[in-house]
Amino acid sequence: MSEFRFPHRIAALRSVLSQNSRPDTDDAVDGMIVSYLEHGKYLTGFTGSNALVIITKDHALFLTDGRYDLQSSTEVPGFDRVILPPASDLALAAAQKVAALGIKRAGFETTHLTYAAYNSLAKNMAEIAPAVQLIGRTNVVEFIKAIKDADEIAALRVAIDAADEAFTHLQQIVKPGMSELDVAWELESFLRRVKGATRLGFDSIIGSGPNSAMIHGRPTERILGSSGGSEFLLCDYGCEINGYNSDLTRTFVVNGEPTARQREIYDVVKAAQLAALEAIKPGVIGKDVDAAARNIITAAGFGNNFNHGLGHGLGRLVHDQYGVFNATSELVIREGMVVTVEPGIYLDGWGGVRIEDDVLVTATGYEVLTHSTKEMVIL
Ligand code: GLY
Ligand code: MN
Ligand code: MN
Repeated sequence: MSEFRFPHRIAALRSVLSQNSRPDTDDAVDGMIVSYLEHGKYLTGFTGSNALVIITKDHALFLTDGRYDLQSSTEVPGFDRVILPPASDLALAAAQKVAALGIKRAGFETTHLTYAAYNSLAKNMAEIAPAVQLIGRTNVVEFIKAIKDADEIAALRVAIDAADEAFTHLQQIVKPGMSELDVAWELESFLRRVKGATRLGFDSIIGSGPNSAMIHGRPTERILGSSGGSEFLLCDYGCEINGYNSDLTRTFVVNGEPTARQREIYDVVKAAQLAALEAIKPGVIGKDVDAAARNIITAAGFGNNFNHGLGHGLGRLVHDQYGVFNATSELVIREGMVVTVEPGIYLDGWGGVRIEDDVLVTATGYEVLTHSTKEMVIL
């Protein structure tokens, strides 16, 4: 049997399975049913749309259907492949394989198994091998994939550099009179045609004037500068290249010199963003990094206008890991994580500012992977 495509990922999963997830919890398992397709792909290298993986100390099974027989024969080295007839119940097949492998304590992914799939798994498990215990595990593959290896970091740099170049491109072409949709299209076409992105990481968030207060607003036909005075233009976008994503936000001023209020709010967000970066290092707790930014925004009187978490994990998914930095996150930050740092202030009916970087946690602190300026840019 050939070697796994990502042997370190399998080894990391095997080492956490046999341990309790917390000292006060009895959830060590001798086999893990990985039902979330994204996680199956992460562990194996598979690129298709249907798969389930079972990992024990000594075995690695990959279950898919007949459409993916040929594809998985090259994409999934190292695994025993099980090719099921079309429309098979993966949960039933999983129960059969768990029994055949002699697993006694079978872990399943609590946050990634539908109610129907869990019911099928539990019912079939009870019928086939009633002694097997099904044990819910949370954040197992997430814990492993939060740490990026050298190839992943290299891929992230490419996607992030493309987003930086798109920021430079925006500075060259955006002017009052364009619509938000024009800006979104320029971004998409630059990232795809010039930078070779496979797709946008998410629908670009382009908000001008009062629309910039919409944290996740959609671009509209609103014309930049149509208020008659200077306005914010918030651009939050990213792209996927070679399977990895970037996620960048910068907020321009368009249509003239900023007002004192615009400068004040921009500077508070920038100071909060820099303070949060400075707080990042291995061992720090997620909520403490969030607080480094939030305290500055709150002290400036805008605590109620920063109504989202400070950041998330970034990788194969734009939101590769939720809840990394927020007011209640107990997550311990580790070397090798790639995360976003994205504080903002949003005033309903007036406008908003967000500044977002992508950041690698290093042995001693952090490296900002995004290189676009955070100085105010006036277009
Ligand atoms: N717009 C998605 C994000 O920045 O998280
Ligand atoms: Mn973003
Ligand atoms: Mn983000």
